[in-house]
Amino acid sequence: MTGPLTVAGKRGIIRRYLDQLPVSAATPIVTLDEGDTPLIFSERLSQETGAEVWLKYEGLNPTGSFKDRGMTMAISKALEEGSKVVVCASTGNTSASAAAYAGRAGMVCAVLIPEGNVALGKLAQALVHGARVLEVKGNFDQALELTKQMADEQPITLVNSVNPFRIEGQKTAAFEVVEALGRAPDLHVMPVGNAGNITAYWKGYREAIDLGWSDSLPAMFGFQADGANPIVTGSPIASPKTIATAIRIGNPASWSGATDAANDSGGRISSVRDKEILEAYRSLAAEGVFVELASAASVAGLRQMAAEKRIPPGATVVCVLTGHGLKDPDWAIAGAPRPLTVEASIGPILEHLDLA
Ligand code: F0G
Repeated sequence: MTGPLTVAGKRGIIRRYLDQLPVSAATPIVTLDEGDTPLIFSERLSQETGAEVWLKYEGLNPTGSFKDRGMTMAISKALEEGSKVVVCASTGNTSASAAAYAGRAGMVCAVLIPEGNVALGKLAQALVHGARVLEVKGNFDQALELTKQMADEQPITLVNSVNPFRIEGQKTAAFEVVEALGRAPDLHVMPVGNAGNITAYWKGYREAIDLGWSDSLPAMFGFQADGANPIVTGSPIASPKTIATAIRIGNPASWSGATDAANDSGGRISSVRDKEILEAYRSLAAEGVFVELASAASVAGLRQMAAEKRIPPGATVVCVLTGHGLKDPDWAIAGAPRPLTVEASIGPILEHLDLA
């Protein structure tokens, strides 16, 4: 199907992209008006890299991450199929999103999270939206295996990105990028964990060509964290380690989706050090864009590409910022000076600010 991209004004990704998604009149649309997130021009990163750098700020989705695009689809389809219970394993964002959308649909949501490795804000979200939260004594990869087993043996729908409806919903972010730029970027840069999102963007960009919305494809660059980089090393990692807990994954479910995207587009899956993730996190925050650590892996990756002279001058680059910084306030506070306590009078205040 081809035609102009005239979807502005429709709320939620299912209504915006109805003809491009596997839904019908019988599908109850469970939505929180996700999607339509800003594509912010980065003056500083553009100057730094000699490219035209745009930030797709997915932290502005209803639950603060890109997961909502996939979850509106997964939960709508689960409801259509008569499912009453959904389950997911999560490093935090998937569970926050599943809990919110399942709550909205009146479904029970069970979540399995790796004990001690989920940011506080994400845990708060799953709890406040009424999910049944279980902390598993193991890592994300083990939790995902358990949820697959549960969905095989019980009348429960799995809403991790191995559920194809999740990928369908998430591909709409690529449509929005194409809509905002008028074409696909030259380079697309993003974090990789379980590898569902890079699979989804690549699908979205390819469909945008078939739809006549874009006449080019981007080269896809995905970044894992150094201690959790199985796709880079070529084999699963039993105990992945990184400060970016959202992408602390040793055996990505959509592994081949990530390698296909990189290989077929002339891009690459690479990894960045925790220190570089933290530096990118701070420099984005200094520019007014508050993201979580995992999201900053894309900008850390962009800098690595610039250092390796892999960015053609003037290239259009999109960096995906997958989640909001408020998800993980501990890191924000840890790296900042503590606020000073002052008397409630103007003199000491001006003095402390060096304005007296
Ligand atoms: N960025 C954030 C903020 C994430 O939460 C995730 C994944 C990724 C990037 C990586 O995306 O897995 O599609 O490659 N979080 C999952 C979760 C694993 O459970 O919330 P991916």
